[in-house]
This record gives sequence, structure tokens and C-alpha cells, in this order.
Amino acid sequence: MSATQSEEYWEERYRDREPEWGTNPNAALVAVLAPLDLTPGAALDLGCGHGGDAFWLASSGWRVTAVDVSATALTRVSAAAVERGLDVTTEQHDLTRTLPSGAFDLLTASYFQTPLDIDRDAILRRAVALIRPGGTLVVVDHGSAPPGSRLAHAHAHHVFPKPDETWASLDLGDGWTTVRVDAVVRRAVAPDGELADMTDNVIVARRAE
Ligand SMILES: C[S@@+](CC[C@H](N)C(=O)[O-])C[C@H]1O[C@@H](n2cnc3c(N)ncnc32)[C@H](O)[C@@H]1O
Repeated sequence: MSATQSEEYWEERYRDREPEWGTNPNAALVAVLAPLDLTPGAALDLGCGHGGDAFWLASSGWRVTAVDVSATALTRVSAAAVERGLDVTTEQHDLTRTLPSGAFDLLTASYFQTPLDIDRDAILRRAVALIRPGGTLVVVDHGSAPPGSRLAHAHAHHVFPKPDETWASLDLGDGWTTVRVDAVVRRAVAPDGELADMTDNVIVARRAE
């Protein structure tokens, strides 16, 4: 089957990227999850990239399924997981078309954002259906363009939705309680070494038992 637009775009990004890039957990995810003190179980990481979040979750006791459209990224994640002895299984999906199967206690999606025109809400809604009763959804999005990124250059006028707008557009219906839906500003180092304030939009929600 020929590569999808998402696969072509993200393959090219990862082929050019240092394999070490993105292998540390996102500070925002750690800050959000650590205080929740969840009992580890099965976790699904959507758009895992080079696996930083998946590795951190697995080292905290989660059995992680790490999904991405880029085969290059996933090959690197699998190799690093074996090397580190971490319980991370990779699955390649173009999430606009297919999803993993299974049931999960935690679904994470960190910066699952793409310049391509995809129906991300629809993907998240389908993925959220895989969360078990009592399970947790954590979405961390860029609320402003990351400094030095393609987004900053190519989408200088891009309007990022506010966290409550993203939550509303997910339209998960009854059976979900929000733990937090807010924006957090943090200082980050841009690829050129400059410091910049960045906004992360954070959604944490729990499925009813
Ligand atoms: C901005 S990166 C974030 C990566 C990682 N979560 C992190 O925080 O470093 C977005 C990720 O989503 C993946 N992605 C984009 N579109 C996708 C799709 N249609 N299906 C699956 N993964 C996709 C990309 O390959 C990329 O790894």
C-alpha cells in the first residue's frame, strides 16, 4: 500500500532528525501526571515520536503501546526500549485510518499536532473509546508556536485553540469528568539556544467507572 500524506511528511521529518531528539519525556506531561499518582496499567501514547514519554511511562511501571505514523521513529523507539529493558510495544498507524486495538487505563497525546489537514478531534474521539472505565485521558498541546520550529516559521499567524475550545470540540459527552483544562506557560530553550516562553494547553479527563 502506498504511503499516506502523513506518513510521507513525518517520515521525512524523522529521517532528518537526530535519533536522540525527543527521547526524554516532555516536562509538561511529567508535571501533569506525577501528582495524579495513578496506578500503572496499560497506556497508549498517540504520536509517540522518538518515545520520550513512552520510556518515562514504562520506567514508571506502565505497559506502553507507542503509536506513530513514522516507521523510522518507531524503529528507533523499539531499539531503545529493548536496550533499556522497557515494556514498550510499538505500532505503526496512520491514525487518520487505523487505530490500535485493546483497552487502556491511560491515553496520552503530547503535542499530537501536525501542519497537515487532519481531523484530529475525530482521531482522539476514536482513541478515547479505547480507554477503560476509570481510565485517564491526558492531552498536552502547544498553545503557542514552539520557538524555532517549522510551526513558528510557516504558521506565524496560526491560531491555536484554547484548551476549553479543544475540550469542547472533543465532545466526549456524558461519562467524562475533567480533572483540569488549562494553559501553562513555561520557559523553554529554542533550537537556536534562545530562551522563550511557551504555552502548553493541558487537558486531563477521567472516564466514569
Ligand atoms: C509534534 S510531534 C510530537 C511527538 C512526541 N509526542 C513528542 O512529544 O515529542 C507529532 C507526532 O505525531 C505523529 N503523527 C502525526 N500525524 C500522525 C498520524 N496521522 N498518525 C499517527 N501519528 C501521527 C508524528 O509522526 C509525530 O511523531
